[in-house]
Amino acid sequence: MSNRKPKPLAQAIRERRATPSFDGAPMPAVDLKQIIEAGLAAPSGYNMQPWRFIVVQSAEQKKRLRAASYNQPKVEEASAVIVACGDADGWRRDLDEMIRLGREGGMPEGYAHQAQVAVPNYLSNFSGDEMKAWLNKMVMIAVTHMMLTAEVMGYDTAPMEGFEQDKVHEVLRLPLSYSVVALLGIGHLKGPDKFQSERFNMARTVFAEEYGKPIRFSE
Ligand SMILES: Cc1cc2nc3c(=O)[nH]c(=O)nc-3n(C[C@H](O)[C@H](O)[C@H](O)COP(=O)(O)O)c2cc1C
Repeated sequence: MSNRKPKPLAQAIRERRATPSFDGAPMPAVDLKQIIEAGLAAPSGYNMQPWRFIVVQSAEQKKRLRAASYNQPKVEEASAVIVACGDADGWRRDLDEMIRLGREGGMPEGYAHQAQVAVPNYLSNFSGDEMKAWLNKMVMIAVTHMMLTAEVMGYDTAPMEGFEQDKVHEVLRLPLSYSVVALLGIGHLKGPDKFQSERFNMARTVFAEEYGKPIRFSE
């Protein structure tokens, strides 16, 4: 844990910034494993876990990935870049394993039978765009788990959508069924942090009971 005391989650959320520049120092494998395990613990529809992560740490591969990411320097500077992908075909191979693991954990037989039918029904009817939207939902929850876990552990993080799908595919030799959802750079901040990005007032984005009604929190 980089000799740092873990931060409380609320503090990590408050202090997290999209890191503009990393110092590039390698990070301990044990820390990286802990961060990845947090991602794998994320919830997903029917527990189908359609995420796939490519962890890039070598100097050569980070350089190639940077070239596929509009030359963003932080891709090369980060200690590790987790390339978060979704696999549109994963469920075809993973459904039996999901059910097997579920049974080990006490999944009722009725649920297992229902999932065996419902998952293929649901997912095989998706259009390409619907599948991408479904994958994005699931993968981003896992990315968020990893990002916040890294922050709790004292790391700095940078989520990125600035990359070219085809180029990242080529650099990482991804299967055709994969789509790249986001990159997550992890490391330690180098130099000054980015300007403070303030959030909108709650009145702009949160409503009570129906659209347009302001939410009030009475004491
Ligand atoms: C999914 C996602 C993709 C992003 N992509 C990039 C990116 O490619 N390059 C970049 O510099 N920042 C990127 N950002 C960072 C945002 O610009 C940043 O989160 C936002 O301005 C708010 O700042 P803060 O995270 O420091 O609070 C991305 C953020 C998210 C959540």
